[in-house]
Amino acid sequence: MSHVRSLSAVLLGLHIVGRTYAQNNVTVEESDAALVYTPFKSTWDSFGNPQTRADGTVDDNYFHGGNCLAIKLPGATVSLTFNGSYIAYYSDMMNNHGSMSVTLDGKITTLNTFNAAGGVRQVKLFESFVDPNTPNHTITLTCLETKNMGLDYFLYTAATPTM
Ligand SMILES: *[C@@H]1O[C@H](CO)[C@@H](O)[C@H](O)[C@H]1NC(C)=O
Ligand SMILES: *[C@@H]1O[C@H](CO)[C@@H](O)[C@H](O)[C@H]1NC(C)=O
Ligand SMILES: *[C@@H]1O[C@H](CO)[C@@H](O)[C@H](O)[C@H]1NC(C)=O
Repeated sequence: MSHVRSLSAVLLGLHIVGRTYAQNNVTVEESDAALVYTPFKSTWDSFGNPQTRADGTVDDNYFHGGNCLAIKLPGATVSLTFNGSYIAYYSDMMNNHGSMSVTLDGKITTLNTFNAAGGVRQVKLFESFVDPNTPNHTITLTCLETKNMGLDYFLYTAATPTM
């Protein structure tokens, strides 16, 4: 009996070390119910397609999924908690945008999404790999100025152990 138990413990250990994952990318639009907005989502400004690019072109697909939310309130945040191996944050850059921070599992990165020439769509503003063995990674965007911080979408790689 103790024989069997120690053998299975060894096999379990090998499985954990050699763990393989089924990966698929998940897009989280700004409207997703998984997102936590402070202040409430209804107080953020909503922008839809079409929008005009920096070069003057009117773009019917400017925002991914049709819309974007933005706020110009220092301290405003939006958070996503996810399980996976990778996360990316996409939004536009614009001449009415300012500085903001991205906090991923407590590590803070400061960004500025100001672009003097005007609108640039769907820019990958931040990306990072994370440990798929650790559950509940949290990414938080924080507005730092009385200038827009936008959220078009997040993309994360969900990683499910295959064994
Ligand atoms: C997920 O997206 C990332 C970043 O765009 C890409 O590098 C990766 O190949 C994608 N993975 C899958 C499983 O589609
Ligand atoms: C992440 O996975 C854990 C189980 O390992 C689960 O309890 C948790 O709800 C998941 N989190 C999310 C955001 O899906
Ligand atoms: C992950 O979040 C879920 C849902 O809030 C919770 O039930 C679970 O205990 C969390 N897991 C860890 C390891 O924090």
